[in-house]
Amino acid sequence: MTSLTQLSQAIHDAPRWHQQDQFQNTDEIKIVPQADQALGAVVYGLDARKAQSGETILRLKQALAEHLILIFKNQSLDDLQYLAFATYFGSIFRPDADTPVLASKTDTGTPPDVVPVSNAVGQGDYTGHGELAPHADHQWTPLPSFGSLLYAIELPKDGGQTSWINTIKAYEALDEKTKAKIDQLQLITYNPFVRFQSNKGGNAYAGNMPKYRFKDQPILGHAYPHPLVRTHPESGRKALWLNTHTEVELVNYDDQAGSELIAKLREHVLKPEFAYEHHWEAGDIVFWDNQVTLHSRRPFPADQRRLLKRISLAGSRPF
Ligand code: OGA
Ligand code: MN
Repeated sequence: MTSLTQLSQAIHDAPRWHQQDQFQNTDEIKIVPQADQALGAVVYGLDARKAQSGETILRLKQALAEHLILIFKNQSLDDLQYLAFATYFGSIFRPDADTPVLASKTDTGTPPDVVPVSNAVGQGDYTGHGELAPHADHQWTPLPSFGSLLYAIELPKDGGQTSWINTIKAYEALDEKTKAKIDQLQLITYNPFVRFQSNKGGNAYAGNMPKYRFKDQPILGHAYPHPLVRTHPESGRKALWLNTHTEVELVNYDDQAGSELIAKLREHVLKPEFAYEHHWEAGDIVFWDNQVTLHSRRPFPADQRRLLKRISLAGSRPF
C-alpha cells in the first residue's frame, strides 16, 4: 500500500462522534457578531481539535455567509488537526501547475495544503514583512478559492495586523448609476506571480506594478475574465470583486475610460467604513469568505518573527 498523504492522514486520525471526550456539543459554542464593525463574528467555546456536529458546521457556514469572517479564539492545533477542521467546510484549493500562486513549489508547480506565511528565511517567507495591499486570494486563477483560514502561531510585538474589507457593503454603497454601469462588466485580474517570476524580485502584493493594462502593453500569463460584480453563491448578495493594487483590465472597454473607472472604484472600496482591522492574538484562527472580501496586512519590523498558517478551500467559477 502507498503511504497516506498529509490530508488523508488528517482525516484518518481525526476524532469521531463516538469518542465522547473529543466530541463538541453545539450548545458549548457561541457566535457573537461584531455589531460595531463592518464585518465579522467571534466564535467562542469551539475547540477545533474536536469532532463537530452537523448542526455546528451548518451554524458556522451560515454565520460565515452572513458575517464574511469568523474569528476563532484560543486554538491549539497541529497541521493535521488544522486540515481536519478546515475540510469540514470544503475541499483544499489545489490550483493546476499552469497557474502560479503564493507558495507554488518549483518542482510540482503547486502549493502545499498548509501554507506557512512567515518572515523566517526559508520557512514560508513568501510575503516577507512588508505591507500587503488589499487583495482576494487567487483572483487571477480560473477557479479562485472560496475562502481561507489563517491561524496565528507567532506574532510580532509591533504591526502585522490584518484587515478585511466587506465588498458587499462597498458594492451596495455605490450610486445606482454606477451600479448599472458596472453590473455586466467582466474583469481580467493578471496573475502577479507571473510578473513576480519573470522579474525575479519584488513582492507580488506590494503594489509596485501597473494597475491597469492598456492595450499596447504586453499580456503576462493567462487571462481569465470574471465578473466585476460577483454574486455570492449562497446568500445571493452582490459584491464588488476588485483588488486595489494589481494589474487588471476591463474586457471590451476603452483604455482611458476603463482605467479611470477602476481607479474610482478602488478609491471607493478603500473607504474605512467597509473595513475591520484584526489585532492578532496567538491561537486565533480567522476564516474568511474570499468571494466577498478583500484583505490586507500592515508591515512589521523585519527582526520580529511572525508565523501564521494558511489553508485555502476550493471555490466555484465566479458568476
Ligand atoms: C495570505 C495573506 C495576510 C497576513 O496569507 O493570503 O494575505 O496577514 N496574509 O499575513
Ligand atoms: Mn492573501
